[in-house]
Amino acid sequence: MNKEYSLDEYVNIINNYLETAIGECNFGEDIVHNAMKYSLGIGGKRIRPVLVLEFCRICGDIQKALPFAAAIEMIHTYSLIHDDLPCMDDDDMRRGMPSCHKKFGEEYALLAGDGLLTAAFERISQGCLQGLYDSETAISAVSALSCLAGSRGMIGGQVVDLLNENNPDADFETLQLMDSLKTGALIEAACVLGCIAAGANEDEFNAARTFAQNIGLAFQIKDDILDVTSSLEKLGKLTGSDTQNGKSTYVTLMGVEKCQELVEKLTEEAMNSLNEFENNEALKAYAEYLAHREN
Ligand code: IPE
Ligand code: IPE
Ligand code: MG
Ligand code: MG
Ligand code: MG
Repeated sequence: MNKEYSLDEYVNIINNYLETAIGECNFGEDIVHNAMKYSLGIGGKRIRPVLVLEFCRICGDIQKALPFAAAIEMIHTYSLIHDDLPCMDDDDMRRGMPSCHKKFGEEYALLAGDGLLTAAFERISQGCLQGLYDSETAISAVSALSCLAGSRGMIGGQVVDLLNENNPDADFETLQLMDSLKTGALIEAACVLGCIAAGANEDEFNAARTFAQNIGLAFQIKDDILDVTSSLEKLGKLTGSDTQNGKSTYVTLMGVEKCQELVEKLTEEAMNSLNEFENNEALKAYAEYLAHREN
């Protein structure tokens, strides 16, 4: 059985690797690099890289997956920087600190996001050039990540989100599409990247995708619940943002209580799909933690 890691150990491994990755990307001292480092360095739960590493662990050895874990956190962080811009959700706080554009200005926040997006793909190719995995593995990772982060994935979901601001007629189908794309797609990318790094078989890939699609939707519904029920101190971002922006969410359609029930139902579905894997206990516990998280 492959060595197991606690959540804290994973977060340490990821943070240390990200620090090295930032160095190797030759980030200088200029403003855009400082903005990239700032947003990437101020924390976050590191959920997506943890999923990369844990899916890799249950199928193989995690070392190969580190560049993929870093890449997905870079893309996630870029998506948050852009999501907070005044032309999007206009949010001033992120991860307990002023959001990137508040600290560095809109123009540099925009560029810092662009810089992180490109650095992600540089990281994956560097891992291959350094001999960590072969070129077929790198191309598979780039293909999966670019598709799920792009206009058919995360970006597409952000478009659906913007188009449905102040739309009282947004229905469940629209919200499911929006959440599955804007949040589910990157979570799916994380699980798939772990499988690619480990050289998983087709059944394992399918199970990972089913897990991710359920957990991804649950994750965004939980995020929408927390926007109503939590606080800046717990969450590190200002609550009430969705109401202020006239966002259509599962919470506006069915209320907090029913939403939490749905989160738990989706989590159970996700956990069932893990039966494909031996050593699935840690992932099941992680899914439970996500369903009941407070930040
Ligand atoms: C926030 O994601 C944005 C969503 C997709 C809901 P996280 O809740 O994973 O944010 P961090 O990385 O912990 O800051
Ligand atoms: C964010 O959804 C989705 C992406 C960043 C792709 P939200 O807008 O709900 O995320 P928060 O609440 O600002 O973190
Ligand atoms: Mg948003
Ligand atoms: Mg937002
Ligand atoms: Mg939110």
